[in-house]
Amino acid sequence: MLNIALIAGSSRQQSQSAKVARYLRQRLIELGMTAEEHSSLIDLGERGLPLWPAENKGPWVDYQQQLASADALVVIAPEWNGMACPAVKNFFLYASKAELAHKPALLVGVSSGIGGAYPISELRASGYKNCRIAYLPEHLIVRQVESVLNDTEVSGEDDRRIRARADYALDILGKYGEALKPVRASIDMGHSAFANGM
Ligand SMILES: Cc1cc2nc3c(=O)[nH]c(=O)nc-3n(C[C@H](O)[C@H](O)[C@H](O)COP(=O)(O)O)c2cc1C
Repeated sequence: MLNIALIAGSSRQQSQSAKVARYLRQRLIELGMTAEEHSSLIDLGERGLPLWPAENKGPWVDYQQQLASADALVVIAPEWNGMACPAVKNFFLYASKAELAHKPALLVGVSSGIGGAYPISELRASGYKNCRIAYLPEHLIVRQVESVLNDTEVSGEDDRRIRARADYALDILGKYGEALKPVRASIDMGHSAFANGM
């Protein structure tokens, strides 16, 4: 069983990203990959991080512990003005290799329309240099998010397809999660000459 942390990267309360995070966490539990007590949901809309740099780091101390004990991560990033939401970028100013290095992460783009690819490419291009999070080649894009992954019954073909693809991607995340445990244990994380990436 894996310890999995999910990050809902919207700064809005009751965000669709948080809804997606809750759905994916529930599926991870139902698929037997984690359990309630072995998973955590970091909702940057409900308990946001102050804009970095900040003297008072808000909930970061709690998040740090949740992230440090995770074997795998799910990063959910809504598309705002063709970008990743600033809350999730701010999160990556706090996060370091102490919490995230060489941990597999599933990226999830979220859009209320037909977008959602920009936050994927933005996070694949930046933000991993120092923290060394290891994004899977597989990712999810949840489009028309309001009409899918709701608590109600499956709403139609699009909902059925994204649910099936989510299960497929989560299964892959689980396999990377197990496979990278010994890889992490064998890497010297304390090498002071290479504390930051190039
Ligand atoms: C400031 C702002 C800008 C947005 N820009 C885009 C956009 O460029 N492309 C897109 O597909 N959706 C855009 N949206 C809609 C989001 O995809 C939508 O809010 C979605 O539900 C995910 O956001 P949430 O997790 O905060 O609820 C935008 C939403 C906001 C609040």
